[in-house]
Amino acid sequence: MNTSPATDVEGKIAIVTGAASGIGRAIAELLHARGAKVVAEDINPDVERLAGPGIVPLVADVSKEDSAQKAVALAVETFGRLDILVNNAARIMSKLVVDMTREDWDAIMSVNVTGAFLHSREAMKAMIPNRSGAIVNIASYAAYFAFPQIAAYTASKGALVQLTRTLALEAIEHGIRVNAVGSGDVVTNIWAGKMDNGSEFLADHGRKAPIGRAARAEEIAEVVAFLASDRASFMVGSVVMADGGMSVKIG
Ligand SMILES: NC(=O)c1ccc[n+]([C@@H]2O[C@H](COP(=O)([O-])OP(=O)(O)OC[C@H]3O[C@@H](n4cnc5c(N)ncnc54)[C@H](O)[C@@H]3O)[C@@H](O)[C@H]2O)c1
Repeated sequence: MNTSPATDVEGKIAIVTGAASGIGRAIAELLHARGAKVVAEDINPDVERLAGPGIVPLVADVSKEDSAQKAVALAVETFGRLDILVNNAARIMSKLVVDMTREDWDAIMSVNVTGAFLHSREAMKAMIPNRSGAIVNIASYAAYFAFPQIAAYTASKGALVQLTRTLALEAIEHGIRVNAVGSGDVVTNIWAGKMDNGSEFLADHGRKAPIGRAARAEEIAEVVAFLASDRASFMVGSVVMADGGMSVKIG
């Protein structure tokens, strides 16, 4: 087993969704820096800026069935196999349930949950013959805790956690490990266009965690890289909280 964090994903082939920005970009860059080859998928064409030796961008909407098939085919055709899938792409919305339309609800669930389901299913098909692989889902403390106006998002993260656990039970008999990271606040673009001062909100909310600050995207990527590596060989169906203590604070 490769026990050095600096090279623990060396030679592995990964798909990272939502790789144009924030946490997903940090994950794609960290995996690549540690020797993995990466398919970087995002609906935002900015993801093409990541293109280079060992990183192939894919502009695609994760909620579409053929996007998952394209991402897996690109990994296998370009790099020869698939070892790691990181389901990171997500959207958020600030609306009271009484004001939310069916379209609003579906817009969040189709990316945050259905996108992860579709990509996991297609990745499993490529990983099963190899009898190895790792899937890491980016959840949140919002899988367990809430504040008003983010019901679709919290429901989607709760669903993602249960997808993680159930798929973990199905996948481990094929040698594939499925886990999740419960991220704390990170100052990213997730609220862009949906809330004025979204960055300030994330920074302020992060200061409420016991650690007293939001995370850097790289700190979340570090946990993902560990779960994706063979060093996490006994991690199955875990939700690893990387939230500065937010989820253990009661007062
Ligand atoms: N930022 C936080 O405080 C925080 C906290 C907990 C969990 N998370 C989770 O971290 C993950 C990354 O979020 P982020 O904060 O980096 O946000 P971000 O908005 O900076 O990045 C998300 C990326 O996903 C992409 N995306 C959105 N819809 C897509 C679609 N349909 N198809 C393909 N790509 C799509 C966006 O274009 C964007 O590049 C998400 O799962 C989010 O729920 C974030």
